[in-house]
Amino acid sequence: MDEKQVKRRIVLVPVSAQGHVTPIMQLGKALHSRGFSITVIQTEYNRVSSSQDFSDFQFLTIPGTLTDSDLQSLGALQFLMKLNQICEASFKHCFGQLLQEQISRDDIACVIYDEYMYFSAAAFKEFQLPTVIFTTTNATAFVCRSVFAKVNADKFLIEMKDPEVQNSLFPGLDPLRYKDLPTSAFGTIEDSIKLYSEAVKTRTASAVIINSATCLESSSLSRLQRELQVPVYPVGPLHIAATSASSSLLEEDRSCIEWLNKQKPSSVVYISLGSLGRMETKDMLEMAKGLSNSNQPFLWAIRPGSIPGSEWIESLPEEFGEVVLERGYIVKWAPQMEVLRHPAVGGFWSHCGWNSTLESIGEGVPMICRPISGDQKVNARYIERVWRIGIQLEGEMEKETVERVVKRLIVDEEGADMRKRAMDLKENVEASVRSGGSSCSSLDDFVNSLQTKNF
Ligand code: UDX
Repeated sequence: MDEKQVKRRIVLVPVSAQGHVTPIMQLGKALHSRGFSITVIQTEYNRVSSSQDFSDFQFLTIPGTLTDSDLQSLGALQFLMKLNQICEASFKHCFGQLLQEQISRDDIACVIYDEYMYFSAAAFKEFQLPTVIFTTTNATAFVCRSVFAKVNADKFLIEMKDPEVQNSLFPGLDPLRYKDLPTSAFGTIEDSIKLYSEAVKTRTASAVIINSATCLESSSLSRLQRELQVPVYPVGPLHIAATSASSSLLEEDRSCIEWLNKQKPSSVVYISLGSLGRMETKDMLEMAKGLSNSNQPFLWAIRPGSIPGSEWIESLPEEFGEVVLERGYIVKWAPQMEVLRHPAVGGFWSHCGWNSTLESIGEGVPMICRPISGDQKVNARYIERVWRIGIQLEGEMEKETVERVVKRLIVDEEGADMRKRAMDLKENVEASVRSGGSSCSSLDDFVNSLQTKNF
């Protein structure tokens, strides 16, 4: 093939969870708008929607070999590790067939895979296709995972039993404390370390793309660039760079927009724990009581199955229904970006998933942070300590603390200052994705690098 021939197809390999699907599909949209054809390869466990928004994309499904009992018994971390073990061979086989029947190898510029689909590195090497890692978290969390992958699990478990250690700064990761490290709630600490070290071990990609911006975390991005020794491209926030792409795996309930239309400006607390977070009934009741006592209206997205032992909210007592009737609205799944953009929303109570964090920053909405797992703890610390656009709620969930934190954010001067800083950050991230901005230029650099023969 002529070295100068332009390769115009990019293959995406997503992880099958909302928080992972959304940003990689946004990246696909951004690359598509720069003239690339996009092929999305998924396992049968993925349910990426091939909706109208993505009608120009090609979707290919590779059969998986996990049994029903695997699917039921494995926690999320073990599921990912198992998927990586079993996928390499079936991917190679099916991809070989696809190359013969449906797509031309010479047309493929690169394969961009989610950091946790790390089997891709070996699978696509066989086809001599360049691979690029896409991380759905920010650069700081990526740095933390590299550090955490080397932690001695036994020593760490002992250290974490000491509250003083938990609250002390982790060496080299200021302002993160031991307890902010990205341990996962979906497996043991040993599972987290194993998954991270497997992902780190297999990092042979030619570049890393990050859904973040220099104005948010320049020192972590520089550190990553130094440590990885391959180009790092911060191209986010992708939800601003690639508008109008909806990849929601659940049906959005837009009736809440009508309810928001009736509320006063900046008065509503929007609450969501993302696509995986769960909450104990007792904590929800404390939250509901605290919200009620705060006298602020609230919109709550409660996913079916997110309260243990309950299909939706039927296990919650009647008094909770009264609170909602008085000043709340509950949906199963909200049109989150539209909600955050609504002038009635004054604050976002979030589990601090990276997409939610970027979406909140992108609308200048300050946050109440209650992280549950993994990188969310890193994000919460940055929201409170680095960007100073939110308050982290730590310790037991108690109605008095909930009432207080809501008032601090929505009513007090302190909250107004955070809103102002959030608005400043909104302007900065918007500028970064505009033509000439750092993220926009970074995406251009990535695209240009695909045309060089050394990539
Ligand atoms: C997880 C991690 O928390 C995240 O940091 C990582 O980058 C990907 O995996 P998740 O817990 O689902 O993701 O949270 P988040 O990253 O915030 O993504 C949730 C997405 O669902 C957001 O884009 C949000 O807009 C959307 N959402 C959530 C809705 O559209 N409606 C809802 O009601 C709730």
